Amino acid sequence: MMRLSTAAGAALMSAMLALGFTGGLGWAQAKWEAPAAEKAKKNPAAKTKESVEAGERIAKQSCAPCHGDKGRGDGPAAAALPKKPADWTSKAVQDEPDGSLFWKITTGNPPMPPWQSLPEKDRWNLVNYIKSLGKK
Ligand code: HEC
Repeated sequence: MMRLSTAAGAALMSAMLALGFTGGLGWAQAKWEAPAAEKAKKNPAAKTKESVEAGERIAKQSCAPCHGDKGRGDGPAAAALPKKPADWTSKAVQDEPDGSLFWKITTGNPPMPPWQSLPEKDRWNLVNYIKSLGKK
């Protein structure tokens, strides 16, 4: 009996680890990582001025309360959150592949809300805007 429950416990443990590390479910303190296939996704929106400006408009409207006007993670709502919003100008965010940012915007990770309701084009424009902040 004892052996069985130990084995079951170990199986459950490894299932949880697998979920935590590959599912982006925010299990325990596992890092929020996009699945490899999502990371590799190609950005279909060219990084034009128009795309960056379109992304900026959406960000000012929908993301600034948490991420701040300049994307530094210091919006007016940030202080009340249990987790600090990402600083889009940081090396950590700038080093993320476009596909990874797109996936994170799409799926969210509480308290970061999911944005799959935004048209895909808008989400890629947001990615282009976020990436433009690293070059300033
Ligand atoms: C309610 C507050 C809130 C709003 C609104 C919000 N975010 Fe976030 N965002 C967060 C928090 C908190 C995190 C950190 C989540 C984590 O690390 O688990 C985050 C993380 C992110 C990340 C991940 C960065 C990384 O590399 O890990 C991206 C990208 C992002 N947000 C983009 C956006 C965009 C684009 C919008 C608007 C369309 C938006 N967020 C709106 C709170 C918010």
